[in-house]
Amino acid sequence: MTALDARPRTGTTLRFPEAFRWGTATAAYQIEGAAGEDGRTPSIWDTFSRTPGKVRNGDTGDTAADHYHRVDEDIALMRSLGVTDYRFSLAWPRVQPSGRGPAARKGLDFYRRLTDRLREAGIRPVATLYHWDLPQELEDAGGWPERETAYRFADYAALAAEALGDRVATWTTLNEPWCSAFLGYGSGVHAPGRTGDAGSLRAAHHLNLAHGLGVQALRAVLPAGAEVSLTLNLHAVRPRTDTPQDRDAVRRIDAVGNRIFLDPVFRGSLPEDLVRDTADITDWSFVKDGDCAAAAEPIDSLGINYYSPAAVAARTPGGADAAGPSPWAGAERHVRFVPVTGPRTAMDWPVDAGGLHELLLRLRDELPHVPLLITENGAAYEDYADPSGEVKDPERVAYLHAHLEAVHRAIGAGADVRGYFLWSLLDNFEWAYGYSKRFGIVHVDFPTQRRTPKSSARWYADVIARGGLTT
Ligand code: NOJ
Repeated sequence: MTALDARPRTGTTLRFPEAFRWGTATAAYQIEGAAGEDGRTPSIWDTFSRTPGKVRNGDTGDTAADHYHRVDEDIALMRSLGVTDYRFSLAWPRVQPSGRGPAARKGLDFYRRLTDRLREAGIRPVATLYHWDLPQELEDAGGWPERETAYRFADYAALAAEALGDRVATWTTLNEPWCSAFLGYGSGVHAPGRTGDAGSLRAAHHLNLAHGLGVQALRAVLPAGAEVSLTLNLHAVRPRTDTPQDRDAVRRIDAVGNRIFLDPVFRGSLPEDLVRDTADITDWSFVKDGDCAAAAEPIDSLGINYYSPAAVAARTPGGADAAGPSPWAGAERHVRFVPVTGPRTAMDWPVDAGGLHELLLRLRDELPHVPLLITENGAAYEDYADPSGEVKDPERVAYLHAHLEAVHRAIGAGADVRGYFLWSLLDNFEWAYGYSKRFGIVHVDFPTQRRTPKSSARWYADVIARGGLTT
């Protein structure tokens, strides 16, 4: 399934496979707004964003891009792009307020309407169950460091699948559990804003368990043939030099950044080196017999979110910064991040498509039978409407072009990549950065909610229409 389309070429087009899925991606809290409507209860992001000092400018997702009330307009935009797929997330506190008990009819009605309209528009719905909006009541009961939250997630997955199973093509359990565990409970820069290495490792484990139990719950309800997936933000980490010390630094970050999820999910075990490296932080007694086997419930594809690579070097003993809480569960005592050179986006993230290519070849080699989806890729730049009302974003076009070119090369080298979802359809609430960072290919003027496709939107429509890149 990896052969590139062999039809006659124009000579200038890098064509993607015929059935390649071209999509855009969003997440509930980042675009929906309507935070208090139709029975939705607060999530950890409502609480966090209302806590002074946590989100830039005190921004919240209360209104966001008001997508809850603008579904038709937003689907019309996607239709004009020609996307085949749309990746969105269900807001858990909208579907199952408070995280327990029966589903909320009105919350489900919203996703029924969304998915009906998508299907009418010929766009495949790709739903993520958890894109970071844990019902606050579950956090109050202990959140992801507690096992119970995994059981709650499995119940929610079953409710969602019962209600929407006939209309969603692809189900993703979790989006970037690394961020939920290590930014939410390790460094505390994301909701719920707790800090500590032991709690973040417990959270990661219970997210793996939630994923596995969620897959079981979905399979019990979904029609045969439904695609079940997981999205990870795998870290493309390079050593600063090719010394054993710097390579060991890569090993440590790979363990806590990647293999902590990859190994349970695809091998049914925890990385032994991670357990050893963190022995002074936790004895891992929260891992019960059968947990990793549950996490390894087979899935149909793996989603990868990629933005930029990282480079690391060994840290000399005692050389640790007196920095604040870290998301690396103790690894930063031995590792320091070194700058990756080159251009940067408005997030100050380096632009380096080579990291995506490296990741895809690694997955080709390590998980040869797992179809891959790029479930997010994109860039923030300082976009504005010029006096004629146009939003020109040539830097984003260059970023996207380079990354799609890297995907094309990886497919040519045998990586089984089935689709690409551009992050993001709309400018939206960029977590701790609030509305200060714009990732959309459609500009949103938040005071008026006016949508203006950027030049990147026209470029992407053209890529989709041609089935590839013109070089
Ligand atoms: C990954 C997350 O899934 C998404 O919510 C976020 O906006 C983008 N990265 C950009 O930071």
